[in-house]
Amino acid sequence: MMASAAQESAYQVDALIAQDINAYLERHQHKSLLRFITCGSVDDGKSTLIGRLLYDSKMIFEDQLAALESDSKKVGTQGQEIDFALLVDGLAAEREQGITIDVAYRFFATEKRKFIVADTPGHEQYTRNMVTGASTADLAVILVDARKGVLTQTRRHSYLAHLIGIRNLVLAVNKMDLIGYDQAVFDEIVADYRTFADSIGLGSFTALPISGFRGDNITAPSPNMPWYTGPSLVTHLETVEINAEADQAKPFRLPVQWVNRPNLDFRGFAGLVSSGTIKPGDPVRILPSGKTSTVARIVTLDGDLDEAVAGRSITLTLADEVDCSRGDVIAAAGAPPQVADQFEATLVWMAEDEMLPGRSYWLKLGTQTATATIQAPKYQVNVNTMEQLAAKTLDLNAIGVANLSTDKPLVFEPYAENRTLGGFILIDKLTNATVAAGMLHFSLRRSQNIHWQPTDVSRDTLAALKNQKPVVLWFTGLSGAGKSTIANIVEKKLVRMNRHTFLLDGDNVRHGLNKDLGFTDADRVENIRRVGEVAKLMTDAGLIVITAFISPFRAEREMVRQMMQPGEFIEVHIDTTLAEAERRDVKGLYAKARAGQLANFTGIDSPYEPPEDPEIRIDTSGMTPDEAAELIIKRIIP
Ligand code: ADX
Repeated sequence: MMASAAQESAYQVDALIAQDINAYLERHQHKSLLRFITCGSVDDGKSTLIGRLLYDSKMIFEDQLAALESDSKKVGTQGQEIDFALLVDGLAAEREQGITIDVAYRFFATEKRKFIVADTPGHEQYTRNMVTGASTADLAVILVDARKGVLTQTRRHSYLAHLIGIRNLVLAVNKMDLIGYDQAVFDEIVADYRTFADSIGLGSFTALPISGFRGDNITAPSPNMPWYTGPSLVTHLETVEINAEADQAKPFRLPVQWVNRPNLDFRGFAGLVSSGTIKPGDPVRILPSGKTSTVARIVTLDGDLDEAVAGRSITLTLADEVDCSRGDVIAAAGAPPQVADQFEATLVWMAEDEMLPGRSYWLKLGTQTATATIQAPKYQVNVNTMEQLAAKTLDLNAIGVANLSTDKPLVFEPYAENRTLGGFILIDKLTNATVAAGMLHFSLRRSQNIHWQPTDVSRDTLAALKNQKPVVLWFTGLSGAGKSTIANIVEKKLVRMNRHTFLLDGDNVRHGLNKDLGFTDADRVENIRRVGEVAKLMTDAGLIVITAFISPFRAEREMVRQMMQPGEFIEVHIDTTLAEAERRDVKGLYAKARAGQLANFTGIDSPYEPPEDPEIRIDTSGMTPDEAAELIIKRIIP
């Protein structure tokens, strides 16, 4: 193999490493960093290509090298020649062992740039991994086997890369050596891909004919393909515009990570500049409040700066004493981002448990955190055909578009304009697992047009008129536990005591307001969400509300609790064992469920999550319904 210019310089790098590792690292510190991902199916030659890049650049970080060399008998020290084939085998073996690893990151550098490449498994079920690996990438290399052309995986990976907002796409037509370096084949694949790219609005891409195995067009123009006059892959990677450079041209945004207040004389707002440029004296606006001020100082560990650009961590001090805390965004005064609490977004579902429309999740958008409720998807996208399909929910690895609302206004920008202020994750409130990644499209106009209407008669007035304190007695328990029976007695007793009540009972509400709902997890979530909203309105009216619903999920019971005024939500667990409820089987439903004639029956093939710390627990094996009712009333009416 001919030693290319890059290889020669790689040898000089080796010498430099041997001489003075610190000087070497110092030099790398000032290079720009390009993050990229490689996508391809199992035998498109991903490992070979990555091996080739590492091998030719000679800059393999020490731990990687140690891991790879421990496999071979040819143990060498850093800087010694390592065998290309061994390197590739090592990478492939590592990936096979690491099948459970989501994404493997590799590091290398050339004279011009540093690189981090995320190597993501290509299988369909790993959409989640690809999204993880791609979320910070500047560029994606889509590998195509020249003998196979554009495949379903090629389309899926390209769609995902585009969705994630990767601006630079490289179509690397690999294994050109195996088709005799034939230009016609290359041209046909590129034309094919162009058609596809246009169909999904992908815009421009760079097509490269390469051989990872032979090294053609990797670091230098290949003598085997004189018909190709574009840059080699490495040259392209070294010169393409990275996100940080593009972000500098955008308006200034600093999502505040924390407030630095070491003493009374200093109050600084720390964070990473997500876009734009800032100088002392620049006017800024703080969102969501909209207050304005000007920048006094830009403080860093290396001293004050005259200017800071996107990608830099800084602490800003302002000329005025304005309110600003974690989650706020300091922005260019004349070009602020938007503020809204209802959005349309694309969601990539990443959890084993399906998405439950109506359930509330934590939403993290940069440094902001809110509670978000997702509506049923408008549609789901088939990632292999890009078709839009009807969907009621999203399963693991599914991608869909849905509206969502948050419990407080968020400072945001459309994801296409700003990944930091437009990209978010959803977190399950009980397990703390990340369940989805999302990209905001735009805010819904109704969030700007619907305002809370202040009314003159207050809830306190309405409650005082009834001479009572409103509460919700929220009964929960298995079907047949005795909820309706006890709730009914409680209401009768309260009415006898001249209290104003209302009983919302599962079977009854499902005849009217909720007659469109069945018993899937998603429908039960929506059932409880609506009942919660109705119960809330009724407490506003000053009523004592009694609800009797299985309400099987902790998350929704917790959500309703949060909706109510403090102390107004009283969770009553009607605790009857499954065996006892089934023995009673008042409605004959357990028998039907056991016979397989009734699906999703609570306790049989649908879960019930008992309350962990209810205000009241009624053990129905130890008391009569009447005694239970007395006990409950004593708790709310002293
Ligand atoms: S919840 O789970 O969404 O809270 P809800 O309390 O409204 O349920 O309705 C439960 C009642 O519906 C039960 O008491 C029973 O009479 C009836 N039912 C019909 N099918 C089912 C089912 N698959 N699972 C549970 N209850 C069912």
